[in-house]
Amino acid sequence: MDIRAALKLGIAQLRAANVGSYTLAAELLLLHATGRTRTSLYSHPEDQLTEPESQNYVSLLKRRAAGVPVQHLTGKQEFWGLEFEVTPDVLIPRPETEHLIEVVLDRLAVRDLRSKLAQNMSGEGLLVADIGTGSGCIAIALAKELPAAKFYALDISPAALAVAQRNAIRLGFADRITFLESNLLGGLFAARAQHAAPQLGNLRSIETHQSPLFDLIVSNPPYIGRREAPSLAREVRDHEPAIALFGGEEGYELYADLVTQSAAHLKPGGIFVLELGHDSLPAVQPLFETPHWSNVGVTNDLAGIPRVIAAERSEKA
Ligand SMILES: C[S@@+](CC[C@H](N)C(=O)[O-])C[C@H]1O[C@@H](n2cnc3c(N)ncnc32)[C@H](O)[C@@H]1O
Repeated sequence: MDIRAALKLGIAQLRAANVGSYTLAAELLLLHATGRTRTSLYSHPEDQLTEPESQNYVSLLKRRAAGVPVQHLTGKQEFWGLEFEVTPDVLIPRPETEHLIEVVLDRLAVRDLRSKLAQNMSGEGLLVADIGTGSGCIAIALAKELPAAKFYALDISPAALAVAQRNAIRLGFADRITFLESNLLGGLFAARAQHAAPQLGNLRSIETHQSPLFDLIVSNPPYIGRREAPSLAREVRDHEPAIALFGGEEGYELYADLVTQSAAHLKPGGIFVLELGHDSLPAVQPLFETPHWSNVGVTNDLAGIPRVIAAERSEKA
């Protein structure tokens, strides 16, 4: 089979199986099976696949047609211009989460402008917490943008933390990110931090921590309601980790504790940025109507859905 025929076959099979974005999926699987670049795929459509490449491709198509996400078959997903390893232990990073990164960067720039401080977009002196880090995509994207900031990447799932840590090591940010198993921010109290050391390549316990105060807390928590499970795409419901998807029966249950704990762990003037589920805003916005918070703002995603809520820890509350 040549490249052209393989692509045609893949598109036909995936379309027949009602796979979304079937052309892109067939192309990504063919790239993965052959190890070629997109340019070489299209510049040499007459090239023959080797027998092992053909077998691998056909088997990948079969698994995709049966509902396995492309990212679980290729083992990767791009986020914020970086390539992340993904496994069934972590949520596949979503494009809408890039809005959260944009809001963080805007908020930091505005804060510096307002306080008439010199712009500190290197993140010098900033301590950041990412709650529910999953693949590590938020902490690592922010580490790329704020090259002097330090991070805690927290997750309740040790399996997710192992993936996040591998991503941080491979992408070169592990020396500024401390990984910690934690229920929201609870694990920061007198916890034994587990720290990524690139030269070790595995978890290493380094010290006993007092709970630190942060300049910035970010989170994309699980926010889907269990009652919505039947209506989820099978790729999501059957293949992504339930702990990363479901916030409770309704979906918004984790937000109240997240907001309360974040108020307690932010420095005065610190910034809090949270991703929202498609219908979370009415339950989440009132949580910010306390003296602890000021400058509350909501940002819509490209589909017009309120996707990110951000606020500042009041100076005096
Ligand atoms: C929606 S995923 C977000 C993953 C990643 N930050 C992203 O944006 O792609 C939520 C993450 O929160 C973690 N999580 C769920 N409940 C948690 C809790 N109580 N405390 C800490 N992390 C939690 C899950 O393991 C999962 O990795």
